[in-house]
Amino acid sequence: MLRRLHPEQPESFAFTAANQTWAEAQITKYPDGRQASAVIPLLWRAQEQEGWLTKPAIEAVADMLGMAYMRVLEVASFYFMFQLQPVGSVAHIQICGTTSCMICGAEDLISVCKEKIAAKPHELSADGKFSWEEVECLGACTNAPMAQIGKDYFEDLTAEGFAQMLDDMAAGNVPTPGPQNGRYAAEPLAGLTSLKDYDSGQTQYNASVQLAKDTGDTIKRIDGTEVPLLTPWVGKDGTVAGRAAEGQPPKPAPAPKPAAKQAEAAKKAKPKKTAKSDAAADDLKQLKGVGPALEKKLHDAGVTTFAQIAAWQADDIAEMDEKLSFKGRIDRDGWVDQAKLLAAGEETEFSKKVAKGDVYEDK
Ligand code: FES
Repeated sequence: MLRRLHPEQPESFAFTAANQTWAEAQITKYPDGRQASAVIPLLWRAQEQEGWLTKPAIEAVADMLGMAYMRVLEVASFYFMFQLQPVGSVAHIQICGTTSCMICGAEDLISVCKEKIAAKPHELSADGKFSWEEVECLGACTNAPMAQIGKDYFEDLTAEGFAQMLDDMAAGNVPTPGPQNGRYAAEPLAGLTSLKDYDSGQTQYNASVQLAKDTGDTIKRIDGTEVPLLTPWVGKDGTVAGRAAEGQPPKPAPAPKPAAKQAEAAKKAKPKKTAKSDAAADDLKQLKGVGPALEKKLHDAGVTTFAQIAAWQADDIAEMDEKLSFKGRIDRDGWVDQAKLLAAGEETEFSKKVAKGDVYEDK
């Protein structure tokens, strides 16, 4: 299937204030220089907000992450979960057409979609309220046939019940998700055959359905005001610093080292005497894997030049790994090899980008 940008695009995209806070908080989850790792969460949130991924949304996410637009479009066009064309304003229906669902009636559900929504998948209904597509197995095979609508699964469907469900949604009602034939979850159709006397404290709905009911409107777009906003790493003011200020428990102090080891560690903590140790500090952010925060930590540890890093041996690396709290990072990113080149006045692909200002704004 050809996946490209839709010919009709809106003028602009902006996250809602709450979604913007959420997105910025996502970015803080990744180490310096790895902000592009947040590309899928941010694209997904943009789609949850708008229903589909517009060109301005893709560009906005790329700008937030310092990525080329093309790189983000590659991600968006690769994964089928991203919708690159407008979807129904009320709901986009995803019918599972894989084996279990197919033999239990998925084709009847697709016929309903063709009749009530549009003849072809990814086309809007005449009133713009609905769109549909066939998808691969959604992992609810014991409750076949089924459809995903928004975040929820609607299971044990019949063509008649599904058609009614679409009418209900068009009328502004939100059907209860989960099994539509009276089943609680995925127990045998004829009822339990074991653990019959076990009091599970069973509630009216299974946990997934109950959560959907508690949310109140399972097909609404996600604007970030939902409670709870799932960013436990940020404080109430929306910042990571705010979280710390709210009195989160401090990290336990490291266990004291035996006296002999303390003396050895103190010796190692001193900056290495190298040819450039008295020279002006280098821009350590030219090392791939060292962002502003890590550069500050390196400075605090007395490391300011490429020559110092170029001279590190295995024990120095182990010591710095511990200090920087990024075990294995130095070897993984090849800091020493990079530093040797940079100390010799050569460039790396990454240092060229940093020098051009393509990586850090504060450069
Ligand atoms: S086959 Fe439809 S959910 Fe698995």
